[in-house]
Amino acid sequence: MLKSLFVFGVLGVLLIPAQCDRISVCVDDVYIRVDCLIPPKPNTIANYRFSWSTGTKEYIINTNVSGLSPDKQFKDKSFVQELDPQGYRMTLTGYTDKHQTTTYMCNMCGETASIIVDQEQLVQCSAMFLKSAGSWIVCLLLFFYQTHS
Ligand SMILES: *[C@@H]1O[C@H](CO)[C@@H](O)[C@H](O)[C@H]1NC(C)=O
Repeated sequence: MLKSLFVFGVLGVLLIPAQCDRISVCVDDVYIRVDCLIPPKPNTIANYRFSWSTGTKEYIINTNVSGLSPDKQFKDKSFVQELDPQGYRMTLTGYTDKHQTTTYMCNMCGETASIIVDQEQLVQCSAMFLKSAGSWIVCLLLFFYQTHS
């Protein structure tokens, strides 16, 4: 019992960060989509900030943090939806410029997640569904193993 708890604990620590990414990016012909899955923290104001950086400068794409506003190139080009059960999805449309390597960042409740993506290797959103469904199943299985063993 204790041993299997330990094994799954270690497995969980090793696998969950890799499989349950807190940020993911995909593209379609007309949009770039960023999902941000940072768990909400109790007693903090819910807010989000999506940005990217292609060098040393960070450009805000969308945010509802008071006092911040998107970079002018992104004004009115994106929208944010709330994800069930947690997190936010930002969709950036009409932006087809191809950068090389881009760091996508999202910040929720003061916590930041980031992912470095080579623009040519961006996953198609249609394929993404399967990929995220796959990692959801892995996460769920791990969760059940951890709680039921
Ligand atoms: C940001 O948007 C979310 C979801 O619409 C909302 O719950 C939250 O209160 C907003 N935060 C601010 C600071 O406006």
